[in-house]
Amino acid sequence: MARFHPLLVFLAALAPPAHAAAPLPQHLRDTGLYARGSGEEIAAAVLPFRPQYALWSDGAEKRRWIRLPPGGRIDARDPDRWVFPVGTRLWKEFSLGRRLETRMLERTRSGWRFATYVWTQDGTDAVLAPPDGIPAGVEVPAGGRWTIPGTGDCKACHEGQPNPVLGFNALQLSSDRDPGAPHASTAHAEVQLEDLLARGLLSRPPPSLAAAPPRIATPRPDERAALGYLHTNCGICHNRHGPLAGIGLDLLQSLSEGPASVERTRASALEVRALRPVGGADVRVEPGKPEHSVLFRRMGARDPLDQMPPLGSEKPDREALALVERWIHSLADRRTP
Ligand code: HEC
Ligand code: HEC
Repeated sequence: MARFHPLLVFLAALAPPAHAAAPLPQHLRDTGLYARGSGEEIAAAVLPFRPQYALWSDGAEKRRWIRLPPGGRIDARDPDRWVFPVGTRLWKEFSLGRRLETRMLERTRSGWRFATYVWTQDGTDAVLAPPDGIPAGVEVPAGGRWTIPGTGDCKACHEGQPNPVLGFNALQLSSDRDPGAPHASTAHAEVQLEDLLARGLLSRPPPSLAAAPPRIATPRPDERAALGYLHTNCGICHNRHGPLAGIGLDLLQSLSEGPASVERTRASALEVRALRPVGGADVRVEPGKPEHSVLFRRMGARDPLDQMPPLGSEKPDREALALVERWIHSLADRRTP
């Protein structure tokens, strides 16, 4: 094996890496999302997708896409953690009456990077936002303003566990879609797990993936939907792997662990005393008593001290609150023999 002089190794470490990613394009139309010369027509290599459990963003309409580099495949050995080839890009467009912003995630040689492009009022161009975002927000046609997150905000949600891609994975794209998921859409024009398998875009997928499309391992419909919602909206921060592991609240479901993962979520929340009481509630989830459950109270709170998630929305998600309320009631029924 070739050996390098330690000095050369040292100098190489000082020099900027030869493979440092090119600067981000200033305009969305130069990121490869659209067909050449267009700001509307999606490029042929770009695939639309829709996760079954979506992030709540004050009711904004979203469209999402992925583009793999030519010949690129996703390493799908671990159903909980797909590994994407260098050059992968994902986009998510937000609209409320008009297009507001299009966010982008890119896998470079040195890791993932985050960017967002802000649409002009007339909808003809979207321009790279500053790294701090636009805290004062942009105008929404129906009134009010829409905050553009900075890259620190992107990382707070996307780097709260080892897997920065949150909505494009085996669970989210499963064709066994959860009809109880809040804001579920019946649209099926988007790419699903089966399409990825059929197109050969996944490398080394476990055989079980094709045999039985994955789902959250509980037979109860309300629990399945509630845990799916909490997985996407909360488990990204509340899990065993990331910086908030010490809180001991685990809302992230694992497909490889199946029912054990559901059990772990219950054990981390049901009848567990909260670190801090909120509005008279002092247990994370009190079976049968949503109002006494800190998890439920904080989902419905929008004062900055208590609101959960702490960023990304200004209005509580009423549909999801109703679902979590039903789930907490159902937990009491289960306890009675
Ligand atoms: C409040 C948490 C939160 C914040 C803040 C956030 N994201 Fe996300 N993002 C998510 C979740 C959860 C998903 C997957 C579910 C969905 O799309 O509804 C997602 C999906 C995406 C996607 C589609 C690919 C994927 O991971 O599924 C892109 C692209 C994206 N986000 C980019 C960004 C960028 C860039 C920023 C910052 C400018 C950002 N996000 C800020 C939580 C967040
Ligand atoms: C961006 C990361 C992030 C997301 C997403 C997030 N949280 Fe939190 N959560 C935190 C942090 C940080 C704390 C600890 C500080 C505090 O209590 O405010 C916390 C604390 C909590 C606590 C208090 C635990 C205790 O024992 O006192 C609960 C309950 C909670 N979150 C529920 C949720 C729920 C439910 C969601 C989704 C609807 C959610 N969180 C989404 C970051 C997050």
